[in-house]
Amino acid sequence: MNRVIDFINVNRDRYVDELKALLAIPSISALPDHAVDVRRCAEWCGEEMRRVGLNNVHLLDTPGYPVVYGDWLGAPGAPTILFYGHYDVQPIDPLDLWESPPFEATVRDGEIFARGAADDKGQVFMHFKAVEAHLKQNGRLPVNIKFMIEGEEEVGSAHLDNFIRANKGLLDASVVVISDTAMFARGVPSICYGLRGLVYVQIDLRGSSTDLHSGQFGGALANPAFVLAQMIAQLKDRGGHVKIPGFYDDVRPLQDEERKAWASLPFDDRHYRKEFGIPKLFGETGFTTLERTWARPTLEVNGLLSGFTGEGAKTVLPSVAMAKISMRLVPDQDPDKIADLFEAHITKLAPRTVELKVTRMHGGKPWMTSYDDPFVQAAGRAIEKGFGRSPVYTREGGSIPVVSTFQEELGLPAVLFGVGLPDENAHAPNEKLDLVNFHNGIIASAFLYDEISSVRSGS
Ligand code: BES
Ligand code: MN
Ligand code: MN
Repeated sequence: MNRVIDFINVNRDRYVDELKALLAIPSISALPDHAVDVRRCAEWCGEEMRRVGLNNVHLLDTPGYPVVYGDWLGAPGAPTILFYGHYDVQPIDPLDLWESPPFEATVRDGEIFARGAADDKGQVFMHFKAVEAHLKQNGRLPVNIKFMIEGEEEVGSAHLDNFIRANKGLLDASVVVISDTAMFARGVPSICYGLRGLVYVQIDLRGSSTDLHSGQFGGALANPAFVLAQMIAQLKDRGGHVKIPGFYDDVRPLQDEERKAWASLPFDDRHYRKEFGIPKLFGETGFTTLERTWARPTLEVNGLLSGFTGEGAKTVLPSVAMAKISMRLVPDQDPDKIADLFEAHITKLAPRTVELKVTRMHGGKPWMTSYDDPFVQAAGRAIEKGFGRSPVYTREGGSIPVVSTFQEELGLPAVLFGVGLPDENAHAPNEKLDLVNFHNGIIASAFLYDEISSVRSGS
């Protein structure tokens, strides 16, 4: 391993230059105007995979953006890693809040700023470089590895479940490895053993066929903006508890062991509140902040739209009102079942004075594994070697829907080893990645392949 690690240390600056090229491609999957860029990014990843020495590199078509596949299978008898990541990124608005252009990666104070730096291009790139170091120095890897990098993660991975079902042989492996999460804090590397699931819906209300003069008509009909606010207000009680009947039925209770372990993590409500400019924290009664975000489901309004929102005043009764609402789920809640419960409840809450339309958008199942898993333990040893400190075990509030598909369709355990930081502005202006974590992440990834090579599991 020494030769491999020496190579990584010597090439430190080159990695940053190369990463800049990947970060320059505006692969925003949500915006149709960027379709060409998303495809160009897939091509770039394919070429990079060939450059680092992977074989069988192909862009595999889906009804949406392609999955970039490449492998190295020269270690018969050793385990096979299925590495998953995504090359698409979130939109960049509001653009005026970026301190440097989102697609011209800029290094300031040891951090690289660009859309996708942490989520997820920088973290995928770490693994390209770890593979390259092994292959350049030793001509081989200690394990077999298959890369699958998708381009629709940020829009819900709509085509990925079918893709996996249709390519079970190609994707057959011993373990899934993903670097698309954050470390617990700076200097506190972590392994994530649980993710929340998601249900995302849009509700549209119509109160009249056109906007109306609020003086002429005000008082004679229901205002959909007002009705929407009243409906939303009934979805949670004052203690932050979701009031949809049946919503909590399948929630797996938090284990005492987890409660205890999380209470000893270096987390401080006051610091958290200040860091994110929050006047006062709020969440479900009876749970700590970490418990609320990692182990409890929530319902949130992601966006609201109705009536006149321009400068000045306009006296109008809006004809329509819209809300985007999402629910984060925990084991063992099922997204389809929760969507049904939500739809039934919101339909009951809608008065007959408005027309209601509910549109289901994407969803994903929650996921959780045990940290006794031998692959998770192997990752722990690799992280210790890369970061000089053994990892803490965390769950995350975010979602990566495909992780449960890997478990259900391919029977694979997953190791989530991420090197982002909670304050790296994923999905927000000024997204960034700490370059020390990036560099140590390459080293830890190189060790991870080595550690996994000696895991003997059922498969
Ligand atoms: N990398 C994130 C998931 C994530 C976020 C993990 C924070 C851990 C902490 C991923 O790219 C993401 O943003 N997922 C979406 C999923 C959705 C679009 C289906 C999410 O969580 O909102
Ligand atoms: Mn991501
Ligand atoms: Mn994301």
